[in-house]
Amino acid sequence: MTEYFVIGNPIEHSVSPQIHNAIFEYYGLHSRYDKIKVEKSELAALVENFRKDGKGFNVTVPHKANIIPYLDGISREARMVNAVNTVVKKDGLVMGYNTDIQGFALQVKRAGCLFKNARVKIIGAGGAAGAMAYAAFLGGARMITVYNRTIEKAEKIVSMLYRASDSSDAPGEYTSAGLDKFDAGFCDLLINATSVGLGKGHEDEMPVAGLEGILPHTVVFDAIYNPVKTRLMREAEKHGNIAHNGLDMLIYQAVIANDIWCGLGAADNRELTDSIRRMLSA
Ligand code: ATR
Repeated sequence: MTEYFVIGNPIEHSVSPQIHNAIFEYYGLHSRYDKIKVEKSELAALVENFRKDGKGFNVTVPHKANIIPYLDGISREARMVNAVNTVVKKDGLVMGYNTDIQGFALQVKRAGCLFKNARVKIIGAGGAAGAMAYAAFLGGARMITVYNRTIEKAEKIVSMLYRASDSSDAPGEYTSAGLDKFDAGFCDLLINATSVGLGKGHEDEMPVAGLEGILPHTVVFDAIYNPVKTRLMREAEKHGNIAHNGLDMLIYQAVIANDIWCGLGAADNRELTDSIRRMLSA
């Protein structure tokens, strides 16, 4: 078994090997990172093989929740969002983490934005939305509104946020709504966590009708990085707002995962993350 790898299905398009192999090369390590297509029925055997001689692996769609029953334990963050994207052996136990949450938090921080006391609107309620909403919660957002086509999934995220805030002194205000109720106003951060606008041929699609009423200072984060600029980002820029794509979240979740395995300090290494960004943008 390769020391490090990512599992998913499909997996052909994953750029994780490029990122992790660049990290290993930067630090002069001879480790290798591969991608493996894995069916749900193969997860148990994969974890058992990993237990014998693996070092670390990432998990992507559709296995972020499927993998959990096969692990010995998962972090509180992974438990809250019911998704594991990073697995490591710790004291002989196979443990799961979620670095999408911290990855997004780092992107927001390095973009010069603050979750603290912010009003955050999130479009979408799938796996990415859960991680982004929880990052906003952990950062101290005072209002989080989750809009989704399927309202029940938005309600689930809101329930998770209230559960997470049970022990908090100053819980925020968390609300769910259908996509038809979306209004771009009254928020500091606006996040797209849907897959609308993703991929070739979908460049002109966006999950909401428009961004009328968006405040001048609202910063838009789109989880999508392909295309580099989504229709939603272009609309935000037309209104004069700053918009970021999902490339940095992708890079930061990877460097944080690599730090869990190897402890190289990759997440704090701006020279490295800048060179990975250039590599992926080329
Ligand atoms: P990921 O793991 O990338 O977050 P996901 O869990 O499949 O992917 O979530 C996809 C998100 O995009 C969901 O919020 C989904 O809405 P539903 O929950 O209603 O399915 C949203 N989405 C996908 N296609 C959509 C479309 N055509 N219109 C609106 N929302 C869409």
